[in-house]
Amino acid sequence: MRLILFGPPGAGKGTQAKRLEEELGTPQLSTGDMLRAARRGGTELGKKAAAYMDAGKLVPDEVVVGLIEERIQKPECEKGFLLDGFPRTLPQAEALDAMLERRGQRIDHVISIEVPDEDIVHRLSQRRSCPSCGTVYHLEHMPPKEPGRCDKDGTELVQREDDKPETIKKRLEAFHAQTAPLKELYRERGLLKSVDGTKPPDGVHQEIREALGIAG
Ligand code: AP5
Repeated sequence: MRLILFGPPGAGKGTQAKRLEEELGTPQLSTGDMLRAARRGGTELGKKAAAYMDAGKLVPDEVVVGLIEERIQKPECEKGFLLDGFPRTLPQAEALDAMLERRGQRIDHVISIEVPDEDIVHRLSQRRSCPSCGTVYHLEHMPPKEPGRCDKDGTELVQREDDKPETIKKRLEAFHAQTAPLKELYRERGLLKSVDGTKPPDGVHQEIREALGIAG
């Protein structure tokens, strides 16, 4: 299955992608995670991306397209993948089409996780994540068992640089201006299904399973 998880910052794309990855065995390809790993590694690409990310702006298309192209050629993606946070602009969507066409593949589903802007700022201010394994927590809804420590590997949890309220507002602006118009593209292709992202994570997961036709 080749799936795009679509939605505004903080909609729960990463949370749901991790669940689906475990359930379906299909790898999550998150451009945000890849860029943060490049930053931590101090690579040239990471340094270039950092300024955009901290300002709440999108990283240039050629950077993220290059990251995705490299990953989908790997054997682990042969049978499918979950795209989380990509594509985010029309040129990225076109680049994805071209990549898949060259490989004789296509996207099967686009799931749009719908959450109103009013909920996003509060939600993201409560997010903490593990810099080592990427597990995401929420101080109210999904707290770690031991405060401040990852349940999986005990690493100290961190708050993302771009989760400050003023940066979140910039990210939402970028989403509405550059990313939201892609919904129409995938709706026209008959691929788009919307789920209610304001439900608790289990309820969102169930709606996604129904949308994918895998609910038992
Ligand atoms: P990226 O990392 O992709 O950030 P994003 O799209 O803004 O999404 P988030 O990771 O903030 O949220 P999410 O939807 O994954 O929600 P999560 O599951 O964590 O991108 C970061 C930056 O990198 C961008 O701003 C840009 O600069 C750059 N970038 C990345 N991709 C790019 C691209 N393709 N092109 C250009 N630039 C790119 O959940 C959020 C919180 O809510 C968590 O605390 C979670 O526990 C909680 N939560 C989840 N579900 C629920 C629920 N149902 N109810 C209550 N709480 C919930």
